[in-house]
Amino acid sequence: MRASLPCLTAAALLAFCLAPTTVATAEPYATSDAPLALTPPMGWNNWAHYMCDIDEAKVVANADALVSSGLAAKGYDTVTVDDCWMAKSRDPEGNLVVDAQKFPHGMAWLGAYLHAKGLKFGIYEDAGSLTCERYPGSGSPEGGGPDHYAQDARQFASWQVDYVKMDGCNLWVPPGKTKEQAYRDAYGAVSEGLRASGRDMVLSASAPAYFQQGEWGGSDWHKVLGWVGETGQLWREGKDIKVYNPAAPATSRWSSVLGNYGYNRWLGRYAGPGNWNDPDFLIAGAPGLTEAESRSQVGLWAMMAAPFILSSDVARLTPAGLAALGNTDLIALDQDPMGRQGAVLSANATFEVLARPLANGDRAVAVLNRSGSARDISVPLTDIGLYSCTVDAKDLWTGRSTEVSTSLTGKVAAHDTAVFRLTPREGCGAPVPTGQITGNGARCADGVNTTGVGAVVLAPCTAAADQRWVLGPRESVRLSGKCLSAGEGGAVELAACAPGEPGQRWTHRRDGALVEDVSGLCLTAPATAATPDAPAERLRLSDCGDHRVDQAWSLPV
Ligand code: GAL
Repeated sequence: MRASLPCLTAAALLAFCLAPTTVATAEPYATSDAPLALTPPMGWNNWAHYMCDIDEAKVVANADALVSSGLAAKGYDTVTVDDCWMAKSRDPEGNLVVDAQKFPHGMAWLGAYLHAKGLKFGIYEDAGSLTCERYPGSGSPEGGGPDHYAQDARQFASWQVDYVKMDGCNLWVPPGKTKEQAYRDAYGAVSEGLRASGRDMVLSASAPAYFQQGEWGGSDWHKVLGWVGETGQLWREGKDIKVYNPAAPATSRWSSVLGNYGYNRWLGRYAGPGNWNDPDFLIAGAPGLTEAESRSQVGLWAMMAAPFILSSDVARLTPAGLAALGNTDLIALDQDPMGRQGAVLSANATFEVLARPLANGDRAVAVLNRSGSARDISVPLTDIGLYSCTVDAKDLWTGRSTEVSTSLTGKVAAHDTAVFRLTPREGCGAPVPTGQITGNGARCADGVNTTGVGAVVLAPCTAAADQRWVLGPRESVRLSGKCLSAGEGGAVELAACAPGEPGQRWTHRRDGALVEDVSGLCLTAPATAATPDAPAERLRLSDCGDHRVDQAWSLPV
């Protein structure tokens, strides 16, 4: 499974060589001819603050503020103009026309301005017939007809555009095609057009966002997530972050941050150098988030290797928000060259613990406090995959390091997220992926709430020991020292581990399927999950389907 991964950089190569061998996992792939976006894109976009109320002066002011605040020098370098920059119709040659009221000097000028500041130029278009705000899109008109993908890409190249956000509103689905196929063809053509333009332009492809159904998603959503990385370097998978409302600036946007974190946290298997899940903009430091909530968004986004794209009035960021966004340890975490998205190791109503392996052998750990009050935390190193190990733990918010050999401890404010970078001391073995196995409906594989001896069921996630799985060695999946095993008649059970025995080796595929090696069957979630009053149905093995949501699993890393 690893052979198909082009080793793009020495750092990436080193990182993959260092990856512990546990359950065989599908590696992310980078397919662009030019190695674009080897780390998550960073920058600014107007949408979540200005929406359509955008013009040249505002873009220039924010670009200037990126530079004067020091954020540009720290990597926030791509300035993207979102929807509503154009006139409502194309010119007689079919070219897009800039709204000259809003952008009096035109887009080539804006590109040159940004480049002169050391910044990059991003622009918004849509793969359908019209943008979401009903300006001309690049796609075929409703009812069919020629598209403008190649022509628009050439126009963007002539403006020295570096980054294209290709949205997916109003996309024509020809009769006889599924919606999923129509999006696949459209985004394939977008990517082809960009390549043919001769200029390297990063593609942010919004296709998955048009298939999202709830946090765990449906089968089509997973199908789209499976191919979107062949077209673009990053993709929006879901709902927009809540936009700023000048009429009610104090309106909280925290639940929107948690919502986008919620759907993004299970998708790590799709991410890697050149391919990034995008849970939407950073609004840290902007109205609607407290200091702690701003830190949380930066911390969680960094753990998830998410694009760091601000969407706020940069000159008016709160000092605490600016400090969080400009924290070079958090930026280094987000931009880690290994490009492995962090995973949720445990979650319940109060805490969520995430871990992320890093290129130099360090391990990042974050603890989100969802509750409305400050909480003490204590996370045993063994719960995060470090056994017999002493680490230097750097608190990335305070910058202080301490030696830890038992548990990470501290106090986390309401809605805050502690983030640590752990450097294992000599003598530590490779970390062992340890934590919850999450399946359909964001519920957890649970080995204790059983209806029969050794049974495994799906239950609400509790962060308890009966949901703390250990991956490996030899591709085993273990709980409390027992191995997940193929049983009689498609049953799955916890049984004594017998090295080399059939039925105890598992491969985690990129589509999320957990495949038992001998039978080739897929671990399948029951139709109904355990509840306090309904007896739990067991996990079973069944034929592997095409991106079935009940066969998608998110594993610890
Ligand atoms: C949405 C997109 C937003 C913004 C908007 C513009 O579909 O998610 O980020 O681009 O369209 O109309």
